[in-house]
Amino acid sequence: FQREFVLTEKTGSKKNIGLITLNRPKALNALCDGLMKDLSDAVDEFEKDREIATLIITGQGKAFAAGADIKEMQSLTFAEVVTGGFLSHWLRVSQCRKPVIAAVNGYALGGGCELMMMCDIAYASETAKFGQPEILIGTIPGAGGTQRIIKIAGKSKAMEICLSGNQFSAAEAEKMGLVSKVLPPDQLLPEAIKLAEKIGNNSKIVVGLCKEAVNRAYETTLTEGLNFERRIFHSTFATEDRQEGMSAFIEKRPPNFQDK
Ligand code: HXC
Repeated sequence: FQREFVLTEKTGSKKNIGLITLNRPKALNALCDGLMKDLSDAVDEFEKDREIATLIITGQGKAFAAGADIKEMQSLTFAEVVTGGFLSHWLRVSQCRKPVIAAVNGYALGGGCELMMMCDIAYASETAKFGQPEILIGTIPGAGGTQRIIKIAGKSKAMEICLSGNQFSAAEAEKMGLVSKVLPPDQLLPEAIKLAEKIGNNSKIVVGLCKEAVNRAYETTLTEGLNFERRIFHSTFATEDRQEGMSAFIEKRPPNFQDK
């Protein structure tokens, strides 16, 4: 597939990792409509592909993504954004059934930071810079910035970030729990791929169920979440992979998961 704004590649030693590279480096990978459509199509493609276990999203050049495309938004009116459903296809990444890792190589600002938070796991390069600078251009985050940061980092940090528009470093992002690891730039992608491969060695069906259970914590109360988790746990007993995993442990051999 040749797309204008994103590159896709199957990578990892088993070629079971779907690597998506945002590829609009001249505009610091600003997330124009075309790019978001290409990204959405790339996620569709890898989600459908039975060989792909895990997706990675990264950026070409010095940015992960410097936000929604300000030049594209500048002349839009309220009526146009409302009736046109502006940003409605932005949710695609957060709805992917397979795990998605963000490898944040540089600026993750505005919609770029929000895109990162739609992913399941984020690794960052030491050079990455984060922020929700929408307030500086007279608007507010529109794809989860005000909603997801507060759940990760609490109210004070969320307010500081959203109301000041201040940028923050990868080290600060790690301290807040926004990213799980900070790496030297040349180690970022190899380490993200290593993690994706590790996840990819597990049963795809059980990984999907586990992701669903973790995500449920965002949407529900603890009691409901615990009930949901227990039922999903029970449901893994309907898979051959659960039988295989436990048998392999007892027989002291590696499991051979069939994704069934
Ligand atoms: C459109 C952008 C852009 C953006 C950068 N560019 N960010 N174009 N939309 N978000 C373009 C610049 O216009 C410029 O193009 C080229 O990329 C290089 O950018 P420079 O500013 O020259 O680079 P630099 O001096 O290194 O500064 C980097 C930067 C700065 C600090 C990241 O570009 C910046 O502040 N960008 C905007 C960040 C931002 O406000 N993001 C939030 C957007 S609102 P030309 O053609 O001039 O060379 C948003 C809303 C989300 O995301 C709502 C929900 C999705």
